[in-house]
Amino acid sequence: MITKEKIGHGSSRDVYAHENPLWCVKVQIGDGKENLREWEIWESFPELHKWLVPCVSISECGKYLVQIRGEKSKKNPRVKFAKMFKHNRKQNSWVIIGGKVKCCDYADQKILDYLKNKGGEKWE
Ligand SMILES: Nc1ncnc2c1ncn2[C@@H]1O[C@H](COP(=O)(O)OP(=O)(O)OP(=O)(O)O)[C@@H](O)[C@H]1O
Ligand SMILES: [Mg+2]
Repeated sequence: MITKEKIGHGSSRDVYAHENPLWCVKVQIGDGKENLREWEIWESFPELHKWLVPCVSISECGKYLVQIRGEKSKKNPRVKFAKMFKHNRKQNSWVIIGGKVKCCDYADQKILDYLKNKGGEKWE
């Protein structure tokens, strides 16, 4: 499944190519909960799926998160930022999947808090 080819890294995850070229594996660094949060947001808020890179599966304690692999976005994506993304406007948090710009790093606790408190509000 996971390969040795590292395709990205951040403060809380190292990201590797998967044997399936359509997927990648996000490896949680240390005891953080980012993989678990990303999975929870993916599973709990289907209304946001059009903006989010799909999660495929997660290991029991969240160490390994399999996600659809996007292409790096060279141009600044013309995304209409919804309120929930105001905490994450970093260029490298956005990748292209099927010609669409999607967020690949939505593990922020602030995003989860926002979604839980404001459930039902329109995002656009
Ligand atoms: N699904 C994906 N497809 C392709 N590349 C990805 C994907 N997810 C992450 N990456 C790459 O790996 C990098 C690190 O991933 P990510 O931003 O999710 O980690 P992080 O530790 O949460 O980062 P940060 O410290 O910015 O919060 C990204 O900037 C991106 O370049
Ligand atoms: Mg992050």
